[in-house]
Amino acid sequence: MLILGIETSCDETAASVVNGGNEILSNVVYSQMVHDKYGGVVPELASREHIRAVVPVVNQALGQANASLAEIEGVAVTYGPGLVGSLLIGLSYSKAISYSQEIPLIGINHIEGHIFADFLEHPKISPPFVCLVISGGHSNLIYVAGKGDYELMGQTRDDAAGEAFDKVAKVLNLGYPGGPAIDEVSPKGKSDFFKFPRAYLEEGSFDFSFSGLKTAVAIYVSRLSEEELENHRIDVAASFQEAVVDVLVEKGIQACLAKDTSKIALAGGVARNRRLRKRLREEAEKQRLEVFYPSPILCTDNAAMIAAAGDFHLSRGRASNLDLNAVPHASLTAGN
Ligand code: KG4
Ligand code: ZN
Repeated sequence: MLILGIETSCDETAASVVNGGNEILSNVVYSQMVHDKYGGVVPELASREHIRAVVPVVNQALGQANASLAEIEGVAVTYGPGLVGSLLIGLSYSKAISYSQEIPLIGINHIEGHIFADFLEHPKISPPFVCLVISGGHSNLIYVAGKGDYELMGQTRDDAAGEAFDKVAKVLNLGYPGGPAIDEVSPKGKSDFFKFPRAYLEEGSFDFSFSGLKTAVAIYVSRLSEEELENHRIDVAASFQEAVVDVLVEKGIQACLAKDTSKIALAGGVARNRRLRKRLREEAEKQRLEVFYPSPILCTDNAAMIAAAGDFHLSRGRASNLDLNAVPHASLTAGN
């Protein structure tokens, strides 16, 4: 089955054609640059960029897959969570394709899409497993009992992990998006330069909180002289990254032990982080846990993961009606 995936939930306009649920024929991602100078995504600008980009991006995805619209058997699109104006662009265009081509529309939860990036990359990974979905907009600890069967074990109570990376990079003048910038410079810094707070929250909690850490870095930096900051910028970045990684790794492993599962997967933009991947591998090995993560292009927002999730649902006879609405705070529930 050839599925066209469309993803416009934030600042990436993406389209992809996936064959049979796991063969990526094309995966086009247009990352909007217009936000860089603001140090964060400006929702109205994102919507306008999606309007400009969605048709060329879809055409490019079809072209690279060597497929015509007439050959597509279903269109899968992110309906939420995300920015409402951005979601509506992808959703409206997908509905137009579904209606005109007389093919099913499959609305996909963006978080479920991120989990499918792991299924795409590792076709043999079999649930149950614990998945850390960590990106600029969400930080969720999910028990994947099966494809389409999820239990939300924990989530952030304030900032998402990627958001903390972006904000700390801004304070350190390392540019936007902050995650890749901090990842890049940190190996040259001392990760034990300063011990920033780790928020583990109540005993047994799988929730996260990164806003205190972000504020601690901002206060620490505000007390440094210009010269001190110049000399230790990279040490502060590495120390911050270590604090985030410590919490993510510890909670992820504890979640596996609590669920008595031997597999842990990463997903979302922050899953690209090299220090996180390394530390998780090291700690998981001690507990004899297997670690999975998608290749970098499938970690950050893309439409191949949406098409793969769409294939799964459509092959089980689940499709959406044309009155499907954008749901900015859509939650991932069992049997989604
Ligand atoms: O999944 P994604 O593309 O978009 C959302 O759904 O939010 O994730 C983007 C986020 C940004 O906050 C970015 O700073 C972060 O992922 N990110 C990283 C890395 N690459 C991207 N964070 C840490 N290390 C990285 N290498
Ligand atoms: Zn995402």
